[in-house]
Amino acid sequence: MARPAPMPPTDRLGRPLHDLRLSVIDACNFRCGYCMPADRVPDGHGLDAAGRMDFDEIEVLVRAFARLGVRKLRLTGGEPLLRRDLASLVARLARVPGIEELALTTNGSLLARHARALRDAGLHRLTVSLDALDPACFAAMSGGRGRVDDVLAGIAAAQAAGFASLKLNCVVQRGANDDQVLPLVERFRHSGHVLRFIEYMDVGTCNGWRMDRVVPSAELHARIHARWPLRALERRYRGEVAARHVFEDGAGEIGFVSSVSAPFCGDCHRARVAADGSFYTCLFAGSGQPLRPLIAQGEGRVVEELIASWTRRADRYSELRGVVRQVPRRRVEMFLVGG
Ligand SMILES: C[S@@+](CC[C@H](N)C(=O)[O-])C[C@H]1O[C@@H](n2cnc3c(N)ncnc32)[C@H](O)[C@@H]1O
Ligand code: SF4
Repeated sequence: MARPAPMPPTDRLGRPLHDLRLSVIDACNFRCGYCMPADRVPDGHGLDAAGRMDFDEIEVLVRAFARLGVRKLRLTGGEPLLRRDLASLVARLARVPGIEELALTTNGSLLARHARALRDAGLHRLTVSLDALDPACFAAMSGGRGRVDDVLAGIAAAQAAGFASLKLNCVVQRGANDDQVLPLVERFRHSGHVLRFIEYMDVGTCNGWRMDRVVPSAELHARIHARWPLRALERRYRGEVAARHVFEDGAGEIGFVSSVSAPFCGDCHRARVAADGSFYTCLFAGSGQPLRPLIAQGEGRVVEELIASWTRRADRYSELRGVVRQVPRRRVEMFLVGG
């Protein structure tokens, strides 16, 4: 007889643990201003190999989450394709019982050379960040490190390797790349890929976030809808972060992630683990809980601690932003927890 599916732990606000976002590296070859600006995060910062979980530790951790009912795993970074031998880690994680959806978020710059191996290793889905089509604007958004042609080549290679429909993430900042929105939509309508416009968030402490640089999704929706009429789709499940829309003319789907103008903490069922094994229950948490010592004691010990931590969880920072005057002064950086 098949074993019943595990009951995921539920936090103090009634939110079950459903998915895991796992950073495999804190280094990046880009310096996007909204994430790790070069003047705040110099080259050579961060963990050495010994400071990162190795593949055995990562597998123990993922098995523990899967035992608690986590079915969706997203690998991220920093830039995950900088992690040596990533495809062999993907192959191990794809075999973990219970993991049904294994995804990766990348800046795409190195994707052309890795897409086939990732697909062969069992990766199910890819999300590629793409903030502009214009080469000069793209280069500026990446802190002078990236070339848009490399990312477009990566997208083409991923498609050729069998990733049928990619998610393409664009973080929009007023006065920086908001003029790229319509060209991006035009380029990817009819492509089968799903563009998602993400509001610029006040994550971390080093991006100099200002509310007047956030372009609310409603404004972007109006701009796009005026040119190519859109129709909203129902959410597929509680906690889906992107509001999905289709083009009325059948050209495909786009999405809006409105973390600032319409926070969705009430439905947040995501755990995050940084490359050093620190466990975060919120994107805006000040500190993480070190899991490596527990991983060394085995999967069962990790399971116990994850249940204890998740059932204590009461974070809802985004909903409180603007309501309370005191925001936490310490906040984990985006490049440590990966989005
Ligand atoms: C931290 S990156 C890690 C993966 C990979 N390096 C990439 O860029 O796709 C994950 C996602 O977070 C997004 N991101 C980073 N900082 C952000 C911010 N301040 N507001 C909104 N999204 C942000 C990026 O655009 C990217 O799509
Ligand atoms: S968003 Fe991704 S590509 Fe840009 S600096 Fe952060 S980790 Fe690197």
